[in-house]
Amino acid sequence: MTIEVAQRLPRVADLDRTRGPFARARTLPGEVYGSGEILRLEQRGIFSREWLCVGREADIPAAGDWFAKEIAGDSIIVMRGADRTVRAFYNVCRHRGSKLLEDTHGHGLARVLCPYHAWSYNLDGSLQNAPRMGADFCKGDFPLLAVRIGVLEGFIFLNLDEGATPLESHFADLPDFKRFRMPELARGQRIEYEVRANWKLICENYSECYHCAGAHPQLARISEQISRDERGQEIGRSFNGGPMRLREGIETMSMSGRSTLPTIPGLSHEDCRYVHYYVIYPNMLLSPHPDYVLVHTAWPLAPDRTRVVCEWLFTAEAVDAKDFDPSDVVQFWDVTNRQDWALCERAQAGVSSRGYRPGPYQSSEDCVHIFDRWYADRLAGLL
Ligand code: FES
Ligand SMILES: [Fe+2]
Repeated sequence: MTIEVAQRLPRVADLDRTRGPFARARTLPGEVYGSGEILRLEQRGIFSREWLCVGREADIPAAGDWFAKEIAGDSIIVMRGADRTVRAFYNVCRHRGSKLLEDTHGHGLARVLCPYHAWSYNLDGSLQNAPRMGADFCKGDFPLLAVRIGVLEGFIFLNLDEGATPLESHFADLPDFKRFRMPELARGQRIEYEVRANWKLICENYSECYHCAGAHPQLARISEQISRDERGQEIGRSFNGGPMRLREGIETMSMSGRSTLPTIPGLSHEDCRYVHYYVIYPNMLLSPHPDYVLVHTAWPLAPDRTRVVCEWLFTAEAVDAKDFDPSDVVQFWDVTNRQDWALCERAQAGVSSRGYRPGPYQSSEDCVHIFDRWYADRLAGLL
């Protein structure tokens, strides 16, 4: 990465080439993948304004269960109150601003105690006690600052923008996921990766299988792409995606191609022939399979570094079983993930070079173009 490239912002005209019709469109300009200035704009204009998936409601089943999540530089506490309601707050004391909780998660929290001067907060965010603050001090004036929160399909979403469209309307046009029973599914595995590539390269890579035959022999052996005409395009304001078909005799995406875990109850025979891949903007990658749901979220750490959290959700029956063994599917996606991260890291090296010029999309890369167009529209509004 050269200093000149790192400091430069793309021109709106450069983005217009991505926003144009698919047949003539060009990929995003290189500056969007390597510039600290762009990442600051994205944090302010995208990650601080969109609904972001930060976890599962089942992660905090009991009163006093909590976890913290960093979003666009802010630490947010998500916790379940004594009344069982899940709420989110900035992890910041209302006295002189100390960070409150240092750990990433915990259980059995009775109150949030600031380590600095011992102000304490109830789990609903109200100020419980502020030692020796005087007679005219009103505790009601200093609750923790709340962050907007919503639950969709068992996933907890946060939005730092107080004026954002409510979660339900924002996601009103998502496909109907009910048949996958996601709120009832349980996490069977979670792996975090740190990838030396921009977060958008990860979303773009997920959005196409043009690379699959060469890069993922284990994947190409068991599932096949479907032409755009056959699969149609699933696009909405907040997402895009589409299915791939399992090859004849294959039951799920696993090393063996067999499924040893219970199918999600109620899925049709037709549903069991497909795996669906959705990018939910900006950074959630949701992949329902016949017997599990795979979820990635991609969190920018730097222009050229991303933390990817990958989780596998199974039926509760499967996870609760004494002999629960998800290794066949976990290994499959872990191998595939690592192959993808290597490709993304090579792409990062290339798009950061003076020698990069935006290129054309191949016909099966329509979902990459849709994601890039969504991004280019957002960025154009921020420049
Ligand atoms: S900063 Fe928290 S009690 Fe003073
Ligand atoms: Fe891939």
